[in-house]
Amino acid sequence: KNLLSTLPRERWFGSSYLYKYNGFWLGPKGMPGLIACQNHFQARDTDFLLITTPKSGTTWLKALMFTLANRKIYPINQNHPLLKQNPHSLVPFMEFFCSPEKMNPDFSCPLGRLYSTHYPLALLPESVLNSGCKIVYLCRNIKDTFVSYWHFSKKLGAEASLEEFFDMFCEGVSLSGPVWDHVLGYWRESLEKPEKVLFLKFEALQEKPSFHLKLLAEFMGCPISPEEETCGFVDEVLGLCSFDNLSNLEVNKSGTQPTARNEMFFRKGKVGDWKNYLIGEMGERIDHITAQKFFGSGLSL
Ligand code: A3P
Repeated sequence: KNLLSTLPRERWFGSSYLYKYNGFWLGPKGMPGLIACQNHFQARDTDFLLITTPKSGTTWLKALMFTLANRKIYPINQNHPLLKQNPHSLVPFMEFFCSPEKMNPDFSCPLGRLYSTHYPLALLPESVLNSGCKIVYLCRNIKDTFVSYWHFSKKLGAEASLEEFFDMFCEGVSLSGPVWDHVLGYWRESLEKPEKVLFLKFEALQEKPSFHLKLLAEFMGCPISPEEETCGFVDEVLGLCSFDNLSNLEVNKSGTQPTARNEMFFRKGKVGDWKNYLIGEMGERIDHITAQKFFGSGLSL
């Protein structure tokens, strides 16, 4: 609380603020978790950390990674945990490990612990970087990320207009933003340490889902075997974790998470929806910032 009162802040929604800490904007719930994790969280060599910018497909990737990692104990059938629980209940956010008793929870799967965060690279607990813990990073076209973030924030109660929200986003003021700096941090780390960081894009995942599922499984050290391929395992995972399947499950229509109702994590799941919302020069403004920020990095989104 003392730290929060010293930080620059911007109104996010309702009485909620984003706070600027070491160059990034964090929500009020993320701050205590961050300090606690930085001081106490101990990553293990066998951990998997799923990292995203908000609204770039976290829910989808959680479902895919959970299914892959747990397939020995949870074969895909009518009792699969994803049919009864939202992916966010199965793969917890590190942001909520904010008290000593919640710090190193035992949520092991056969491969190791699987958890997630929106924290940027610069703010990760040191043990994540210094251990063998593997990171899977997912990002998305920035314009689609913005549109999804806008809808989500509206559902949470944001009162600002699309234009006001857009200006803030372009200034870097968004949850875990500036989004460009978030993405670049992990992009560079993935180039330097490809064995530690797998860098994925939402659009690529949609375009070539089988290819990326296999890539993911290999990176996680649980490659899909020829027998599994023959038995149709790849299609089964993709079907189970698909937008249509998950969004129509009862648990995802009615349940809730600490941050939002489950149904709020499913909207359209499409590539290019920004065209329906960004008018005039808005799209170009984001493209311009993206080109400037990513210049020379080899990254495009
Ligand atoms: P849209 O708002 O564009 O529809 P996050 O999970 O990081 O909060 O991101 C939410 C976005 O991912 C939303 O995008 C949501 O619809 C989409 N999404 C959720 N589950 C998905 C799935 N299984 N497959 C594809 N997209 C999904």
